[in-house]
Amino acid sequence: MEAVIEMKNVSFQAQNQTIVRDFSFQFEKGKVVALVGPSGSGKSTVLKLAAGLLVPASGDVFFQGRNLFMMTREQNLSFRKQAAMVFQDSALWANQSLYQILELPLKLHFPQMDKQERDQRMNDVLAQVGYRKALSVRPAQLSMGEQKLIAFARAMLCGPNLLFLDEWTESLDDASAQCLVNLVWERRRNNDSIIFVSHDYTVIRYLADYIVMIVDGRFSQLFTREQVAQDEDMAHLIEKRIAL
Ligand SMILES: Nc1ncnc2c1ncn2[C@@H]1O[C@H](COP(=O)(O)OP(=O)(O)OP(=O)(O)O)[C@@H](O)[C@H]1O
Ligand SMILES: [Mg+2]
Repeated sequence: MEAVIEMKNVSFQAQNQTIVRDFSFQFEKGKVVALVGPSGSGKSTVLKLAAGLLVPASGDVFFQGRNLFMMTREQNLSFRKQAAMVFQDSALWANQSLYQILELPLKLHFPQMDKQERDQRMNDVLAQVGYRKALSVRPAQLSMGEQKLIAFARAMLCGPNLLFLDEWTESLDDASAQCLVNLVWERRRNNDSIIFVSHDYTVIRYLADYIVMIVDGRFSQLFTREQVAQDEDMAHLIEKRIAL
């Protein structure tokens, strides 16, 4: 098994509280892993730790065998270009226009790209997610759902093959949610590595190769797609846990 991301005995603390405890998992390359568990159990924190966006209090995180916090600047930039994150709260820059928000990752990762090409790339991903309004507005002028669409579009811009998605269909209407699930399904068929958090059991069952249950900041249980498909009791257990 080839791991794309490996977390080894990772713990995380904030304000004297331990939020993630001794978490170890190898995320297999080309597979889709769903992180599930009750609200406040630490899913978003584990996802950010896996993406190298939080520094563990102890333990290590590796990307293709390389410690995320011991990379050179070039290695780090290359990791960032391949990886993309959709944050639970979208995390769009408040004081920038949507155009500026979307332009930035392309300017950073494709410095040779001219404006026309950047605009084309932006229009392509915006069409894919079904966002048709102006780009001159700022995030505060959008609904939560529209912010999610922009956050997803931003994540897709640089053609990543490693996705970190935190509740990326939350607060969307059914058609938009379905559209973003379909886009992730296409990435799955493309053998991208995907780690996602969701409370939507239908989405989890549809997309995930593995389901990792997190309870109280700890790794609790691992389920495979086959187990969940075949074992109704197991399916109910997961459903109950994520509904908490
Ligand atoms: N920076 C922080 N400072 C203090 N507490 C934090 C911090 N980050 C997370 N927490 C706490 O850690 C716990 C886990 O948070 P996290 O956001 O990872 O949960 P979650 O499983 O994603 O929850 P949800 O399903 O509601 O999104 C929560 O109780 C949260 O309040
Ligand atoms: Mg969360």
